[in-house]
Amino acid sequence: MSTHRLPPFPGPTTTPTTTPTGVRAGRSVSALICALAVGAATACAPSEGAVAPSQAAAVAPASPGAGASRSTTGAPGIGDPDFPSDGNGGYDVQHYDLRLSYDPSSRKLAGSATIEAKAAQDLTSFDLDLHGLTVSRVTVDGGAASFSRGKDELVIEPGKRISNGDRFAVTVDYSGVPEPMRDSANLGQYGFISTADGAFVTCEPNGAKTWFPSNDHPSDKATYDFQITVPEGLTAIANGEMAGTPQTRAGKTTFVWQEKHPMASYLATMTTGKFQIRTGTSDKGLPIYVAVADSFRGSLGQLLTQTGKITDYWSTVFGPYPFSSTGGVIDDYAAGYALENQTKPIYGGFSPEPAIIAHELAHQWFGDSLSIARWRDLWLNEGFATYAEWLWAEHTGQYTADSAFKRYYANATDSMWAYPPGAARADDLFSAAVYNRGAMTLHALRREIGDDKFFPLIRAWTDAHRYGNVTTQDFIALAERVSGKDLKGLFDAWLFQPKRPAPIT
Ligand code: TRP
Ligand code: ZN
Repeated sequence: MSTHRLPPFPGPTTTPTTTPTGVRAGRSVSALICALAVGAATACAPSEGAVAPSQAAAVAPASPGAGASRSTTGAPGIGDPDFPSDGNGGYDVQHYDLRLSYDPSSRKLAGSATIEAKAAQDLTSFDLDLHGLTVSRVTVDGGAASFSRGKDELVIEPGKRISNGDRFAVTVDYSGVPEPMRDSANLGQYGFISTADGAFVTCEPNGAKTWFPSNDHPSDKATYDFQITVPEGLTAIANGEMAGTPQTRAGKTTFVWQEKHPMASYLATMTTGKFQIRTGTSDKGLPIYVAVADSFRGSLGQLLTQTGKITDYWSTVFGPYPFSSTGGVIDDYAAGYALENQTKPIYGGFSPEPAIIAHELAHQWFGDSLSIARWRDLWLNEGFATYAEWLWAEHTGQYTADSAFKRYYANATDSMWAYPPGAARADDLFSAAVYNRGAMTLHALRREIGDDKFFPLIRAWTDAHRYGNVTTQDFIALAERVSGKDLKGLFDAWLFQPKRPAPIT
């Protein structure tokens, strides 16, 4: 076992955290960062400059230029420059309807996924992302479709032509033993991870495809219905709220969950196992659902209380809570990290300190409601969630954001100075630089424009892009508009230069 979070003070951890990949954490940063990023060799990143391509460029499918004959093949990637085969081009998903059953003893997942989408071009074929698993049948609008498999791609040829603007529904029947993703972006294992009594399902950045066919990229958000059947006695936990009481028949129980707000695929979960459940309501009236594995039963009440309290507090700082319920799950799978699954962050094998809960719940605004359009902008998630830890410490009187900033700044040889967080690297995506230097960027901004502009800016940010996709350029533009200042130099130094910025004043 391990400690899971240490505050920026007073110093290095004495109980190193070990992740499934064996990465050892020995720094005084939060365990989620330790688990994911520390220990990864942080090579010097060349500067990528301050010029970030527009969101349109980031999500544009690779289509032929003007004059070329217009392809009716949906691109195999959605256009993320650093993850070229993630997501797909040619359509936009509106809704996923996932009807799945999971048997922990055989580790077999079976079921069908219906994807409702709108064509963004004429389509004679298009892809879904799917890793492993066996597809038995595909239909498009009820008619049989032919399909083939490529690496993590399911290529579908509908029996009829789909025209630009058409809405269509694809149903994929499939089964098999899900295999998690490994060793991508320095993460160890992620995706659908089977456990002794169920599954621990944490999919950032591109592990949704380990359990359902999807447009597996945060630039295509959709609503979700889940109908998950598991052996009686187990609980299946997905996003959003439960619809009705779980129904048990012939030794199996079916749980129906609905996420009615747009969600990025990596935030979807179907975590399964033996859980103790508690529900409640926050002081502000928000429904709360918490679940903990039996071995964490002692943390159930505290998780409920803290989750309600912190969600309510963030709604006063960041703006209205974007979803219909809040919650959290502690599984006994010792991942050592947490993930901000929409409405229900999950803590992998540890009882989270309030600072970690504060981090994951801040992500409900930064990452979940406002989602990045391409992974290189990840600081918009992790820098904000880390800064939220500092704000939480400030709120609870532990330390100030200013002192955290100063402490990091004081270390002139920290490897984060070589890693500009405005260009998160595919091979070291969850770097400590993205978290800590990202948070420092926000603090430098706060000091430059003052609290009376900074906090309204944050609320304007969550309001303007609620449920949408965002880029770093969007944030810089809004910061300049709200503050009335030219902030290009500040953001360039903090986000895009491979060296320690000049001290803030
Ligand atoms: N976003 C998570 C956090 O900072 C960290 C994370 C990244 C993660 N990828 C993951 C956690 C995959 C679990 C699985 O809170
Ligand atoms: Zn985070």
